[in-house]
Amino acid sequence: MKDRLMNLQAECLQKLDSANTLAALEEIRVTYLGKKGPLTEILRGMGALPAEERPIVGEIANQVRTTLADALAAKKEALGAAADAARLEAEKLDVTAPAVLKNLGGRHPIALVQEEIENIFISMGFSVEDGPEVETDYYNFEALNTPADHPARDVQDTFYVTEKVLLRTQTSPVQARTMEKTNPPIRMICPGRVYRSDAVDATHSPMFHQIEGLVVDRGITMGDLKGTLDLFAQKMFGEQTKTRFRPHHFPFTEPSAEVDVSCFVCGGEGCSLCKGEGWIEILGAGMVHPNVLRASGIDPEEYSGFAFGMGVERIVMTRYGINDMRYLYENDVRFLRQFS
Ligand code: PHE
Repeated sequence: MKDRLMNLQAECLQKLDSANTLAALEEIRVTYLGKKGPLTEILRGMGALPAEERPIVGEIANQVRTTLADALAAKKEALGAAADAARLEAEKLDVTAPAVLKNLGGRHPIALVQEEIENIFISMGFSVEDGPEVETDYYNFEALNTPADHPARDVQDTFYVTEKVLLRTQTSPVQARTMEKTNPPIRMICPGRVYRSDAVDATHSPMFHQIEGLVVDRGITMGDLKGTLDLFAQKMFGEQTKTRFRPHHFPFTEPSAEVDVSCFVCGGEGCSLCKGEGWIEILGAGMVHPNVLRASGIDPEEYSGFAFGMGVERIVMTRYGINDMRYLYENDVRFLRQFS
């Protein structure tokens, strides 16, 4: 009996020695130490042994079991460590190797400035509205007090899809659309692309970007317009910035003004950016014409409002000292990279 146990142990240890997977270990465990294995069988059959042999065989059998269980556990640990080591080797990473640089894109300067302007007005409680670039003659002109024979149409010639459908020349139609569907108080800006049939040169493009704003409520005055634009100018161009309103004409506002900001480079002294003027023109503005309110179903006896509009390219160019608008559309990464 003792020999049998010792043989069993030797056999099992030998198999363990050559096992090199966890699955093989488990198989060995089941074969030798499992419920149906030879050890269990021997221990069960002890009753048949003469009484004086029982404790001896029992002791040896237990020793064999402990030896095998320990050997199994040790082998399991060794296999695990070997697997870890193999994995570490396979996944080795040289942290000192030079990095492969990814070419990351950046925001376009027009998008950057547009977002900056949006954020200034959002902080003043304005909503940001959107509208179609392919617009009807009605919203682009008629609803804005610019009937077919109005001379103001001459400077806003555009691309016509049909006689009554066109590429919008300004973002103002979004204001008419907003007034139609919203009751005052209204406080909104509308950024977007606009189109005019202008030849391309350093300061013109048939497509450019505008941001317009509109406020309509009871008792809105020119003072509100000036206060709003003053705050905008200070946040956009710096605390010291002043505004200047010059009388102008737009069909959809009365009175109307062109608005300049004091030059943020020379502070008004005159320099190359402001061409010696001390002032830089940035937008058009005025009090919403009663006809415009009326066309959109708002009673001018009860409500008044102001509107303003600016070209985003112009502000981008002023801000970054860009002297030719075409750089903004050429998508030359050497130019664009400067803004990311
Ligand atoms: N829509 C005008 C333009 O494109 C700008 C403007 C907007 C002027 C609102 C006054 C009020 O020239």
